[in-house]
Amino acid sequence: MARILVVDDEEAIRSGLAEILTEEGYEVEQAGDGQTALARIREEVFDLVCTDVRMPRMDGLELVERVKQESPETELIVITGFASLQSAVDAVKRGAEDYLSKPFDLDEVRLTVKRALEKKSLRDKQGRLERRVAHLSPGPTLLGKSPSFQRSLQLLERVAPTQSTVLILGETGTGKELVAREIHRLSPRAAEPFIPINCGALPDTLLESELFGYAKGAFTGADKNTHGLFEAADRGTLFLDEIGNISLSMQQRLLRVLEAGELLRLGERKVRKVDVRIVAATNADLKKDVEKGLFRQDFYYRLRVLSLELPPLRDRMDDLPLLANHFLQGCAARFHKKIEGFSKPALAALEAHRWPGNIRELENAVEHAAILCVTPSIELEDLPGELREKAVTSGGVEAAPLTLDALERQHILRVLRECGGHRGRSAEQLGINRRTLYRKLIEYGVAREEGDEDEGDDSPQPSTS
Ligand SMILES: Nc1ncnc2c1ncn2[C@@H]1O[C@H](COP(=O)(O)OP(=O)(O)OP(=O)(O)O)[C@@H](O)[C@H]1O
Ligand SMILES: [Mg+2]
Repeated sequence: MARILVVDDEEAIRSGLAEILTEEGYEVEQAGDGQTALARIREEVFDLVCTDVRMPRMDGLELVERVKQESPETELIVITGFASLQSAVDAVKRGAEDYLSKPFDLDEVRLTVKRALEKKSLRDKQGRLERRVAHLSPGPTLLGKSPSFQRSLQLLERVAPTQSTVLILGETGTGKELVAREIHRLSPRAAEPFIPINCGALPDTLLESELFGYAKGAFTGADKNTHGLFEAADRGTLFLDEIGNISLSMQQRLLRVLEAGELLRLGERKVRKVDVRIVAATNADLKKDVEKGLFRQDFYYRLRVLSLELPPLRDRMDDLPLLANHFLQGCAARFHKKIEGFSKPALAALEAHRWPGNIRELENAVEHAAILCVTPSIELEDLPGELREKAVTSGGVEAAPLTLDALERQHILRVLRECGGHRGRSAEQLGINRRTLYRKLIEYGVAREEGDEDEGDDSPQPSTS
């Protein structure tokens, strides 16, 4: 049943309208002035506010504006005297849906209110639908078949549907955020918001207002009432990334919210209830931090009700070819290049690396290679410097003595790469003619027999960003 708040300083008009609406089956409340109305709106959810325009202290136009700020989902209808059509126009400009003129015409009241509420319910429905669709779209692809990663995935599937706080542990780039999103997607909250915040990036005061919101005037620059991310994530999931970096006092404040499910906006005394599931992540050793007194023990225990550890890439090297090819196909599609895979030496170089930046580092290395690549598969030379060097010094890849032909091939491809795949320019730099270069490229499997002669010439280089 729709809830309506009727605001008018004239008792008779107010209760008259309230009566009509109650008879229509709505749940109706009354307020005698704008201040009282605002106070009620802060405490409860109304679908519609019908307000008089001319009232002492706060007039209807200001109320319209304030309600739009504080409760954007609430519909508004203004009540105007017959003579003041202009104020109705002003009110609509400020966000009111419609107006009613006094004295009331019963049918007009019924129809106008019904229309406004229908419009609102349509909008609500659309919002829900959009979220549902987002939920149905395929989630992140968490690739990996290695036993250690599979164990993490199994745990993920078990914890996701619960309401429990989850702490995700893992080195940088191991997929903590991706896992947090997957937990949300597999939870009953999937149709509600998932909101990530990087706690490590913000100083205390900013983090506080970001998370809890603030009242107008709570600090310089707080020019309107603003809800924080806790309220934005209501019924959904809040992802507190880099939780290991927050101060002890912030930990205490967060703990209170987690325990009570209630919060205060900065500069406000009204307690607000929130229903938020917390997923947190860190690459720090929180247990050690607890021992050192850098992290509150009670908060630590509250967070790690369930913890999920993601293995570093070097401990799941079985997954490297799978991941590298996955990223490569993504890049190839983005850059409109046809790249089939990795040459043996290139793959060996990937496998010889320790990957301190884990999957993110791999993703970046593959992108780097895909941009430089001028051959049907990624060559050792396409990889970032440190990977190439390691491959050479570790002796595995390029240890065999080179034949003259192999050396020529290497040189020609290097020049081609440096010229961004431009054959004309490469030929010029190599001091050979274009047809000779073209013949060589066919020999190397880089160009095809026919119809390919100009391919790659002047083709735009994909940007690295
Ligand atoms: N299992 C996986 N399968 C496919 N892609 C993955 C996987 N794990 C991580 N990635 C990708 O690797 C990149 C890094 O992942 P993510 O941002 O989740 O890491 P993180 O642990 O949050 O890193 P940081 O600690 O630096 O914030 C992302 O682009 C993500 O899509
Ligand atoms: Mg992250």
